[in-house]
Amino acid sequence: MIRKLFRNARVFSPWDEGSPARGREQQNSVRFWPEAALIVTDGLIEAVGEEMEILELAASKEIHQEVDCGGMCLIPGFVDPHTHMCFAANREGEFKERLAGVSYLEILARGGGILSTVREVRKATEEELLEESLARALRALELGTTTMEIKSGYGLETRAELKMLRVIRRISMETPLDVVPTFLGAHAVPEEYRGNPQGYLEFLLEEMLPEVSRQGIARFCDVFCEQGVFSVEESRRILGRASQLGLGLKIHADEVHDTGGAALAAELGATSAEHLLAASHEGLRAMAGAGVVAVLLPGTALSLKKPYAKARQMIKMGVPVALATDCNPGSCYLESIPLVFALAVLGMGLSVEEALTAATLNASYALGMASRVGSLNQGKQADFVLLEGDSPAVLAYRLGAESCIQAVYKRGEQVA
Ligand code: NIG
Ligand code: FE
Repeated sequence: MIRKLFRNARVFSPWDEGSPARGREQQNSVRFWPEAALIVTDGLIEAVGEEMEILELAASKEIHQEVDCGGMCLIPGFVDPHTHMCFAANREGEFKERLAGVSYLEILARGGGILSTVREVRKATEEELLEESLARALRALELGTTTMEIKSGYGLETRAELKMLRVIRRISMETPLDVVPTFLGAHAVPEEYRGNPQGYLEFLLEEMLPEVSRQGIARFCDVFCEQGVFSVEESRRILGRASQLGLGLKIHADEVHDTGGAALAAELGATSAEHLLAASHEGLRAMAGAGVVAVLLPGTALSLKKPYAKARQMIKMGVPVALATDCNPGSCYLESIPLVFALAVLGMGLSVEEALTAATLNASYALGMASRVGSLNQGKQADFVLLEGDSPAVLAYRLGAESCIQAVYKRGEQVA
């Protein structure tokens, strides 16, 4: 057994009371100890609190290592609950077209966008895909992300989807990160099924989903529910099947158009609904009632030049709000939760405490990982970030504040 003492830190952490923090709790759940210490035993938090009290407790125990945090801010490691960072090649050319006014869905409709990444991912070997994707995951780790979700969805055929899911599993094994794999076979209708979306739907339901479930290689199933992609009716069938097969449910809902994705998430009891740029009031009300976590992606709104999701309204309505990067080659190529944090505070009007809860505790609920990560409660993993600054406000204050991330710890070990 290895026991470590971390002292001389300003600790800020949302407090996990057994459910995602919503409404006023999104703000009030954050605890602050200006002079704090932590005892970490075998990578788990044994105690956290006021320094004098923790030192007293530590005096009666064998301590193998003591770390002076230099008076820095200590916050939980970020949890990024929505990424597509397993991909090959970039789409910078398409980005320039978007700047010239071509819309994201237009590019997809003519066979570019997601479908161009599908061509690249199908071509890439497993090793090539791993090399590129691993570099992105490690960049996120350096920026304070200690747990992340990664979606498949650029294979859209059994072989390539499984290749992606194996790469995602290897990122989890070959880095200190906790990685939650999500199957997104319903990301687009692939070219070979152009004009026959029904055929792809049947293939997905009858072949791919059962095989993914049989291999136990994904924890969630997600659907891109959007005009011209998958309808609410189709999404209901896919997620219904996924649920029967034991997968957790996520949905890309109302990203560009309000198609009723938010209400569907509530109806199915999904763990989270993501994007929600165009979600209706009724949809959000249903989510609040069902306790579905809203995963907001302000980097995507910025990159698509769309208004931000109505985060203030969601919090007021009692929808638990989480934040994520959406890291993908099309709508938002971004690994940085610190930048997402800044956009949430400066662009969506979240308070610093609300954004901290969104980027840690609520994000861990969006991944079904709250028993292990997302806050500094006793018994959870000692995943944390040391920040140079008086408070987590520095993440929004020093824009592109990546230099304020001084150290990243995973299960009590410094990893960046
Ligand atoms: O979350 N909207 C669908 N999926 C991603 C974009 C994927 C891509 O363009 O490659 C998103 O925005
Ligand atoms: Fe996405």
